[in-house]
Amino acid sequence: MTNAIVRLAGVKKSYPLGELTVHALRGVDMTIQEGEFTVIMGPSGSGKSTLLNLLGCIDVATAGSVEICGEPTAQKTERELARLRRDNIGFIFQAFNLIPVLSVYENIEYALILKGMSEAERRGLIEKIIEQVGLTGHRDHRPNQLSGGQRQRVAIARALVTRPKIVLADEPTANLDSETGKSILQLMRTMNEIYRTTFIFATHDPDVLSFARRAIRIHDGKIDSDNAVASSTSPNARKKKALPTKRAHKPV
Ligand SMILES: Nc1ncnc2c1ncn2[C@@H]1O[C@H](COP(=O)(O)OP(=O)(O)OP(=O)(O)O)[C@@H](O)[C@H]1O
Ligand SMILES: [Mg+2]
Repeated sequence: MTNAIVRLAGVKKSYPLGELTVHALRGVDMTIQEGEFTVIMGPSGSGKSTLLNLLGCIDVATAGSVEICGEPTAQKTERELARLRRDNIGFIFQAFNLIPVLSVYENIEYALILKGMSEAERRGLIEKIIEQVGLTGHRDHRPNQLSGGQRQRVAIARALVTRPKIVLADEPTANLDSETGKSILQLMRTMNEIYRTTFIFATHDPDVLSFARRAIRIHDGKIDSDNAVASSTSPNARKKKALPTKRAHKPV
């Protein structure tokens, strides 16, 4: 049985900009089942980050409904949204949002402290994820002592360490060399297969697309196409081979 973990209906998002209004999302319907590995692609300015911010309960829609893990978000208070995020979502931002005064280890640890985990439990998880993202020699560095790619890996480790139900990532590989990018995507793919973590990425990177099972293309704030991907990296996908595309949305 499948469960919808994300459900959007008629979602619009507008930003006032002086005299003007920018219509960043212009009616998005989208359902994502638990355990999917989906990329959202589209040109710069098409609304990808706006969409992820709504999924991550960082922003609220101007119109339409957003349901995350079965919970409609529209009527929730800031506090309730923060709880929904903390309990279910790992977010990897385009700007990494690391805490400058904390080390790599402490930045990752912070996510676990918020969950109320004991120090002994935290230590094992943090050491493992630091190794998995290739930062073993950098655990005591502060963000300003790291390269852009290393900072991005800290942000990824922080999002994954809590084993959230949903991981949202805005250009997760933008600052990584191709080898590191692939090994991190492989780590995410393994999490996806073992824990059924749902991954939703906004990206321009064709390497990310090759790890995905579904590609949603947006253009000018609307979904253009929504297709299954025959991923070269998934044993299951190889068996299924080029899935016939199931259009969840009418072309616009
Ligand atoms: N806070 C804001 N105020 C006004 N306009 C905004 C705001 N945030 C985004 N926009 C506008 O909304 C539209 C969609 O922006 P968004 O950041 O979602 O695009 P994107 O697809 O993520 O682009 P990129 O690939 O460049 O990251 C753009 O026209 C952008 O200028
Ligand atoms: Mg963006």
